[in-house]
Amino acid sequence: MEIRSVGVVGAGQMGNGIAHVFALAGYDVLLNDISEEGLQKALATIEKNLDRQVSRGKITAEVKAAAQARIETTLKLADLGQCDLIIEAATERETVKQAIFEDLLPYLKPTTILTSNTSSISITRLASRTDRPEKFMGLHFMNPVPVMQLVELIRGIATDQDTWDTMHEVVRRLGKTAASAEDFPAFIVNRILIPMINEAVYTLYEGVGSVKSIDESLKLGANHPMGPLELADFIGLDTCLAIMNVLYDGLADSKYRPCPLLVKYVEAGWLGRKSQRGFYDYR
Ligand code: CAA
Repeated sequence: MEIRSVGVVGAGQMGNGIAHVFALAGYDVLLNDISEEGLQKALATIEKNLDRQVSRGKITAEVKAAAQARIETTLKLADLGQCDLIIEAATERETVKQAIFEDLLPYLKPTTILTSNTSSISITRLASRTDRPEKFMGLHFMNPVPVMQLVELIRGIATDQDTWDTMHEVVRRLGKTAASAEDFPAFIVNRILIPMINEAVYTLYEGVGSVKSIDESLKLGANHPMGPLELADFIGLDTCLAIMNVLYDGLADSKYRPCPLLVKYVEAGWLGRKSQRGFYDYR
């Protein structure tokens, strides 16, 4: 099936990056959010990140303008009804994601493919609440979306081969690389990455090292571009905790127990960069 138009639900950190890369690849993008302020902020972020690519010689000013012209915004989910592909990139809460799909269904063409950018929630379960589990799969981008090469493609139990092949072709057209994953808690990247971050928080909690020494150790000792605590702040501590909980609940193994210090930071509202405070102070 050919995909021309893409509806992106959620204009936050991931949604605006997804809109950015699809528009650059020539797709028509309709970006949806519950607030006009959220949409305007997303357009400003996309402009800033496109400018960054222009100034580094990655794209021309004409390509930037053409990409921006391909992005439209709407507050109404119903407007996404004619899109060939839907990418849900809302908050990492299952009830929110389910409600979005339920609200969308009455407006959709029968051929529309549904995807979720969830970082850990069961694709099979989300799909089962829709009228088209065979046309539903996971499409998981990494942050920052315009920079990171990987997209995880997650096959739900009912995903059909046509949908799977179509989405592999879409990822190829984006100029990114697909990793195929089966539908188990947190898939591949977060199954490995988030327990490492949780272990870094335990290392801090137990006084083995300071924030600085933990981050420097992984940056200089293992060549990670960011230390694990800096990366946790970048991803969002609430998202890291949500993923640990999905692993803990889904795999029933104590090795996935969220570190109490991670829980405490989230309870304090110290969520990382987005709240100006996490393991580092951004105020
Ligand atoms: N949009 C467009 N371009 C961007 C960008 C953005 N938001 N952020 C950075 N860039 C570009 C820069 O322009 C620069 O481009 P060039 O190489 O062409 O010069 C390049 O990215 C590197 O940026 P900087 O030089 O400014 O900064 P840096 O070298 O410190 O790199 C980083 C920044 C790319 C974020 C790097 O620190 C990094 O790779 N960090 C790890 C990120 C990571 O692990 N992401 C995965 C998180 S897990 C996830 O997303 C899954 C989940 O579900 C939780």
